[in-house]
Amino acid sequence: MGRVSALSGRHGTDFLRRSLGDLLLGWTSGSMRSPADARWENMVEANMTNQWVKLELDVAAFDTPHFETYVARCREDGIRLTTLAALGDTPEHRRALYALNKECSADIPERGEFYTYEEYAERRFGAAGYDPRGIVIALDGDEWIGMAATSLQEGFLFNEMTGVRAGHRGRGISIAMKTFGMAFVRESGASTVRTFHHPANANAIAMNRRMGYVETDTETDG
Ligand SMILES: CC(C)(COP(=O)(O)OP(=O)(O)OC[C@H]1O[C@@H](n2cnc3c(N)ncnc32)[C@H](O)[C@@H]1OP(=O)(O)O)[C@@H](O)C(=O)NCCC(=O)NCCS
Repeated sequence: MGRVSALSGRHGTDFLRRSLGDLLLGWTSGSMRSPADARWENMVEANMTNQWVKLELDVAAFDTPHFETYVARCREDGIRLTTLAALGDTPEHRRALYALNKECSADIPERGEFYTYEEYAERRFGAAGYDPRGIVIALDGDEWIGMAATSLQEGFLFNEMTGVRAGHRGRGISIAMKTFGMAFVRESGASTVRTFHHPANANAIAMNRRMGYVETDTETDG
């Protein structure tokens, strides 16, 4: 069985294709984004085998008291952490999230052209695992400076996207947002949070490793 097929059985075909589709957008043309496209699946499989850094966090092992210090530091700096659910899952706020995601995603290696708003809305807000309680926003006054988006999947939570506006990086904001988001993770009852990154995305990999994410070989658990 191919790796994609093995993973699909465990993680759900739609989830896997959508998530990998996001990451592979920089390498694909619009005509190759269809899940039905065999070339697309072959490319996904090749890239999963060779490239992606797959990480997961054991929720029970997460060092909450330590990482709460990042949340406290943000608050001391005047940065407010909240969720899209608390702010209001409104059309205006969805547009603001899109703008922030688009800006931050421009720094993901080989990410390529970002979605139109309509594509984004379908993939994010229209997805079965979407829950606005899982979307953490960092605000500096009225400015949206960071986001950490998590979705619900069968048997685990998935970190869809973490991003901090360039001028605010290096202050622990991403770790603070992801720590704040652990409340949703616990509410969901999931024992594992998963994510994967382009191998050149050193900042994102370092951020997750700092929080206790470890590399996982999905082939052995498929
Ligand atoms: C990845 C990203 C969200 C990190 O945001 P940030 O707020 O600057 O990160 P933090 O300041 O919280 O730093 C995270 C931790 O990783 C460490 N770190 C960050 N970059 C590092 C690097 N290149 N090498 C080693 N450690 C690094 C930091 O030391 C920090 O830990 P510490 O504060 O305990 O020292 C940000 O760089 C970003 O928005 N990038 C573009 C979007 C992206 O690639 N997102 C990830 C894909 S979903």
